[in-house]
Amino acid sequence: MKTRHFLDLSDFSGAEIRHLLNIGLELKAKRRRGKKPKDRPLEGRVLAMVFDKPSTRTRVSFDVGMRELGGETLMLTGKEMQLGRGESIADTARVLSRYVDAIMIRTLDHAMVTELAQYASIPVINGLTKTTHPCQIMADIMTFEEHRGSIQGRTIAWTGDANNVLASWVHAAARLDFTLKIASPPELAPRPELLSWAKQEGAKISVTTDAFEAAEGAHAVITDCWVSMGDDDEFRRQNLLKPYQVNGRLMGVADKDAIFMHCLPAHRGEEVTDEVMDGPQSVVFDEAENRLHAQKGILAWCLGAANA
Ligand code: CP
Ligand code: NVA
Repeated sequence: MKTRHFLDLSDFSGAEIRHLLNIGLELKAKRRRGKKPKDRPLEGRVLAMVFDKPSTRTRVSFDVGMRELGGETLMLTGKEMQLGRGESIADTARVLSRYVDAIMIRTLDHAMVTELAQYASIPVINGLTKTTHPCQIMADIMTFEEHRGSIQGRTIAWTGDANNVLASWVHAAARLDFTLKIASPPELAPRPELLSWAKQEGAKISVTTDAFEAAEGAHAVITDCWVSMGDDDEFRRQNLLKPYQVNGRLMGVADKDAIFMHCLPAHRGEEVTDEVMDGPQSVVFDEAENRLHAQKGILAWCLGAANA
């Protein structure tokens, strides 16, 4: 069997993404019905979690997810490993493949993750790079559909920095057939390669500099922090992104049943107001919870658990 990596949503077809989501949803339903000691499909399996950058949700949800499936985790940081002293990524991949069953990695350099996958004989999962954040968008799609039904044919608005989270939304739009309206300042607009990929894949994407234009009639309004990990021009970004804040006025032009989503951590008073974060349209904590369920689906699939 081909090694099952989870690197980017663009690597999967719409049907494959649906399959992974369904595994996660089944595991979620099972968990709701109560834990059964015999449901340990990943018993004896070990996930190495490599974190070069901080994390709350990704770290805890992968750790708990793996334990709930009967497996174990090992927490590593790039700095503590010989990787931090110049051991090659390829050799690190070969060595880890002899000890553990899968690797989940968060690091800024996307090429490092793809190189790790190239040389590992075990699954590699992208836990966020500066380029994409596919696990997040699996949880986001799950959350949207639980609240508003199928995402196919719906309109999703993104306002703010066209960052890693947005890039994975673009991949999802191409695969799951929904419209994505992006509003960002020209300086922080989506990369031209990403947009040309989307065009080539037939994705329904529009790009504007006006947050209100993007949010108008949308079924979900999404934003993210103004300053991502690895960004250094904080003051400039804050000024550029002020007009893209999600507040009551912006939510007011979206569909009346629109939901508000944010991958978290949120910077209240910057990209989103308290009123929206804590308001009736916000589903941000369901979204955070769904990281656990969606990733259990990803882990079960990557590790070839029964029915996955
Ligand atoms: N949304 C997300 O990935 O959160 P963490 O940075 O806390 O993992
Ligand atoms: N865009 C953010 C997401 C954090 C989960 C970052 O990369 O820092």
